[in-house]
Amino acid sequence: MAEKAAKPNGKLGVMVVGNGAVATTFMTGVLMTRKGLTKPVGSMCMYDKIRVGKGEDKKYLHYKDIVPLADLNDIEFATWDVYPANAYESAINAEVLKEKDINPVKEELEAIKPMKAAFDKNYAKRLEGDNVMEGKTRWEMVEQLREDIRNFKKEKGLDRVVVLWAASTEVYVPVDEEVHGTLEALEAAMKADNKEKIAPSMCYAYAALKEGAPFIMGAPNTTVDIPAMWELAEQTGMPIAGKDFKTGQTLVKSGFAPIIGTRCLGLSGWFSTNILGNRDGLVLDEPANFRTKEVSKLSTLESILVPENQPDLYGHGNDEDTQYYHKVRINYYPPRNDNKEGWDNIDIFGWMGYPMQIKINFLCRDSILAAPLCLDLVLLSDLAARAGRSGIQRFLSFFLKSPMHDYTKGEVPVNHLFQQYVMLKNAIREMGGYEADEEID
Ligand SMILES: NC(=O)c1ccc[n+]([C@@H]2O[C@H](COP(=O)([O-])OP(=O)(O)OC[C@H]3O[C@@H](n4cnc5c(N)ncnc54)[C@H](O)[C@@H]3O)[C@@H](O)[C@H]2O)c1
Repeated sequence: MAEKAAKPNGKLGVMVVGNGAVATTFMTGVLMTRKGLTKPVGSMCMYDKIRVGKGEDKKYLHYKDIVPLADLNDIEFATWDVYPANAYESAINAEVLKEKDINPVKEELEAIKPMKAAFDKNYAKRLEGDNVMEGKTRWEMVEQLREDIRNFKKEKGLDRVVVLWAASTEVYVPVDEEVHGTLEALEAAMKADNKEKIAPSMCYAYAALKEGAPFIMGAPNTTVDIPAMWELAEQTGMPIAGKDFKTGQTLVKSGFAPIIGTRCLGLSGWFSTNILGNRDGLVLDEPANFRTKEVSKLSTLESILVPENQPDLYGHGNDEDTQYYHKVRINYYPPRNDNKEGWDNIDIFGWMGYPMQIKINFLCRDSILAAPLCLDLVLLSDLAARAGRSGIQRFLSFFLKSPMHDYTKGEVPVNHLFQQYVMLKNAIREMGGYEADEEID
């Protein structure tokens, strides 16, 4: 049976890369929850109850009653950002939360001052901040970040640290086996200051793992989706998770596509478009940055409605009649700020091929959906580390748009929301000393 998680001992440092809309909404919510001034709605760790045991022994329990999760009161925050604004100023600027929901924790947020970012403008052209490490090579960035982690640990007397990327989406870095294939090659490229193949995010991930901290990639960057990082995670015994928070449209997609698949209906096309006006939207307005997001968003459907498995249902519509037409668009539209609006037009067909349409219009709040995921990913990665689970954490796929999987071994990602939920529940059971199972509750 899998290892049971050890009890946490002391404080947990949560170091967030990026101090923008998602990061500040997350931190503010945790601090407000701690004071009993708000509710952490949407967090699985705070609300979900799952069954453990079977038959007469079965019980429905919150996660914290199954596994030893870190207590919110034991969390200390730190961030890095390109802009020097502290977490209070940044939360106000983001305009996600009302001042009345930020002010009660003003003091705590003001004390979170971003450390200098490991940044390269070529990876996010639209950002102009000057709170960056100047003139450092990739390897020097790694060393500085490692020092930042060690200093934070020492200063706050922390027992453990988790590093979460909630910074901007970088330009797309395709996996290059020669550079990203082994840890040795990755380290050599960092030392040779290979700016083209080593994204700044890789420096954060490398530094975190080396310092014995789990690393979570909340953006669609390929940072830890490379064999070199898997090797490092195994070597240091640390969990990694990624990539891209599954919040709005993709959450809907991964929950809705199973309706079509389970009922054996056909799909000829799925067109998704969004308008978004926050800084994330601004960065994604740059085609090279959007490419990273597009790759991540497109992958969801293909593993749920698989053309090769059901050629009659999913094997035509576009791409030389081999697959349904799937398109995703994000348009930068400042008036909406963080309140994203997503439209999905789904062209399906039924009995004897007769066409039908489904329209979904989701008026969501991006950071409000992302914040509980940040909390769950942080708490569960810390838990996984204490359960001796290193490397890719597939059970965290539930929270991610483009879940990590070892493609070198032919693994396929699980995108189906309800299959992901089974993986999540079973991991919690195992880390709590119960047996995994697939019983229907
Ligand atoms: N909100 C959602 O629903 C959602 C869903 C999936 C993914 N994401 C991703 O989460 C990330 C954060 O989103 P957001 O709305 O908070 O964006 P944001 O623009 O408000 O915040 C990102 C911050 O990261 C900083 N940054 C950029 N590069 C950095 C670096 N190298 N080091 C340190 N800081 C750096 C920027 O200066 C900015 O302040 C984005 O990549 C976004 O694509 C968000």
